[in-house]
Amino acid sequence: MISIKLICLVLAAFFATCNAAQEPFVNCMLIYSRRFINISDYLHAPGTPSYSALLQSSQQNPRWVNSTSPKPQYIITPSGDIEIQSSIFCCRQNGLEARILSGGHDYEGQSYRSEAPFIIINLIYLREVRVDIEDETAWVQSGATLGELYYNIAMKSKVHGFPAGVCPSVGVGGHFSGGGFGNMVRKHGLAADNVIDAYLVDAYSRILDRQTMGEDLFWAIRGGGGASFGVIVAWKIKLVRVPEVVTFFNIDKKLEQGATELVHKWQSVAEKLPEDLFIRVIIQNVGQANNKTVQASFQSLFLGEVCELIPLMGEWFPELGLRAENCTEMTWMESALSFAGYLKDDSWDVFLTRTDHYQSNFKAKSDFVTKPIPESGLEGIWKRMLQEELIFIILEPLGGRMREISKSETPFPHRKGNLYNTQYLVKWDVNNAKTVKKHTDWMSRFYKYMKPYVSHSPRRAYQNYRDFDIGMNKKHNTSYKEAAHWGKKYFKGNFKRLAQVKTKADPLNFFRHEQSIPLIKKSKYQY
Ligand SMILES: Cc1cc2nc3c(=O)[nH]c(=O)nc-3n(C[C@H](O)[C@H](O)[C@H](O)COP(=O)(O)OP(=O)(O)OC[C@H]3O[C@@H](n4cnc5c(N)ncnc54)[C@H](O)[C@@H]3O)c2cc1C
Ligand SMILES: *[C@@H]1O[C@H](CO)[C@@H](O)[C@H](O)[C@H]1NC(C)=O
Ligand SMILES: *[C@@H]1O[C@H](CO)[C@@H](O)[C@H](O)[C@H]1NC(C)=O
Ligand SMILES: *[C@@H]1O[C@H](CO)[C@@H](O)[C@H](O)[C@H]1NC(C)=O
Ligand SMILES: *[C@@H]1O[C@H](CO)[C@@H](O)[C@H](O)[C@H]1NC(C)=O
Ligand SMILES: *[C@@H]1O[C@H](CO)[C@@H](O)[C@H](O)[C@H]1NC(C)=O
Repeated sequence: MISIKLICLVLAAFFATCNAAQEPFVNCMLIYSRRFINISDYLHAPGTPSYSALLQSSQQNPRWVNSTSPKPQYIITPSGDIEIQSSIFCCRQNGLEARILSGGHDYEGQSYRSEAPFIIINLIYLREVRVDIEDETAWVQSGATLGELYYNIAMKSKVHGFPAGVCPSVGVGGHFSGGGFGNMVRKHGLAADNVIDAYLVDAYSRILDRQTMGEDLFWAIRGGGGASFGVIVAWKIKLVRVPEVVTFFNIDKKLEQGATELVHKWQSVAEKLPEDLFIRVIIQNVGQANNKTVQASFQSLFLGEVCELIPLMGEWFPELGLRAENCTEMTWMESALSFAGYLKDDSWDVFLTRTDHYQSNFKAKSDFVTKPIPESGLEGIWKRMLQEELIFIILEPLGGRMREISKSETPFPHRKGNLYNTQYLVKWDVNNAKTVKKHTDWMSRFYKYMKPYVSHSPRRAYQNYRDFDIGMNKKHNTSYKEAAHWGKKYFKGNFKRLAQVKTKADPLNFFRHEQSIPLIKKSKYQY
């Protein structure tokens, strides 16, 4: 048994004065860990430099940096399981909520914001990537970024990769547990579709792997959002084979260059193309104040060589006029750099810097499109984009492997029958209440405009593009039925199974937040 004197000594080092009674959480952490680890190495209290640095750097959407919403009581940076286990235990003991943070890219800041008293468990020091090329698998800890994952795979092999998102600073923890799609989605499915084992710390501070958590919970954390179920510490993934030479192109077309007709055509071909060919479209408003236009960038990864790509494009999408000169052959890693906005010859080290060079204040929303939007509908989109400052619309094709995987295989249901996912982002520099309102109002009007053109009953959304507008849990007493209102937009028919798994895995609803999966029955512990 640890002596009170020792606790005071360690606490004294931490707080300068020993007042354990006022710091029951810290006291609990000391007792639980039962080790003489220096708590100030992983527990950061308000007022310390490490606390503010961690809080700032984790907010990838800086929109809330200066907000008046409550700050976490502590930030924990575990370097092993014991700190996570003790954090969960001590939060429960002290009526605190825990927010789990891997890469900090949550669109609504859910990994670092809460209205209830809370702590942040920041997995920044749990980011090991262990690649086993012989087995064609890897264990990757949740705090790693996609960039760190790709870097480590590429260091070991020229012919292996992993199908996940394109932005290197996105965290593995949120991305995998929310689905995760990128430019090999048509060939290999989602990141979550390629997870074969995981281990997590649950609400009882137990460490579970696939076998001990059971297939239901293992199903839920591959797309249902991790933060409703536990802290996922690491994932075992199946690597995929990639050719030694792949091809990248990016073709920009402005309205005056026929962008409308091209985007219109793209909608009906992108989902049907051979699965080695992925073409997404990034649409943005460009130009000076009174001379603005809309530009569509057709950005592609082809898992093959130029000489195979050109005839394919001639057959499927000749209107784009792709020529061999517009294409670059490269390795898969170089294509990852290119997609991330770097040059193919840039040092791979850029994937190890955890800062996001797209970082800005933004609001985003998403839709799934099941039939092509007519040209008149696209023209209405351009008109609205031209009225705003910085708008990005990203169209990501589905089809291929995504058609083959059943809608209930993982919680992500948006498979066969969807042509593409579309995401709308509005960004702003000056971050005061007035500008925020101006831009979010624009987004709400735009979302309304899109309604007739996108999926309906329910209108669906991708949970990794989190959007609180589509519905949130109420602070108290949110029933399954009420939560189903937003839950079915993310998960359709899988929502019920998620709630069943939740009820079994976390019956006291410890892992709760604004869009956490509810218990199937009402409980006084509801969010
Ligand atoms: C610039 C940018 C580019 C993006 N590009 C893509 C893309 O190409 N494809 C795509 O599919 N998505 C993309 N996304 C969305 C991204 O996948 C999600 O925002 C994802 O949830 C981020 O994960 P994170 O770990 O970085 O975020 P965090 O904010 O750390 O976490 C997101 C959510 O997951 C929970 N969580 C995090 N880690 C864990 C864990 N270890 N255990 C349990 N719960 C956890 C958090 O509590 C939070 O609810 C992009 C986002 C941004 C900002
Ligand atoms: C714990 O570590 C901090 C800095 O990391 C140091 O200032 C402090 O003296 C250490 N305390 C003990 C009890 O070792
Ligand atoms: C927060 O406020 C500080 C001081 O007013 C300012 O310098 C900083 O740019 C603000 N950050 C954001 C993201 O708005
Ligand atoms: C594609 O290549 C042709 C021929 O070199 C060139 O004229 C055209 O500008 C290129 N298109 C783009 C978008 O780079
Ligand atoms: C408007 O912008 C286009 C490029 O988008 C440019 O070619 C053209 O010269 C500009 N016109 C004026 C009047 O500035
Ligand atoms: C929650 O529901 C219970 C029983 O239905 C009720 O007694 C309680 O007042 C409710 N709490 C809130 C905050 O609405």
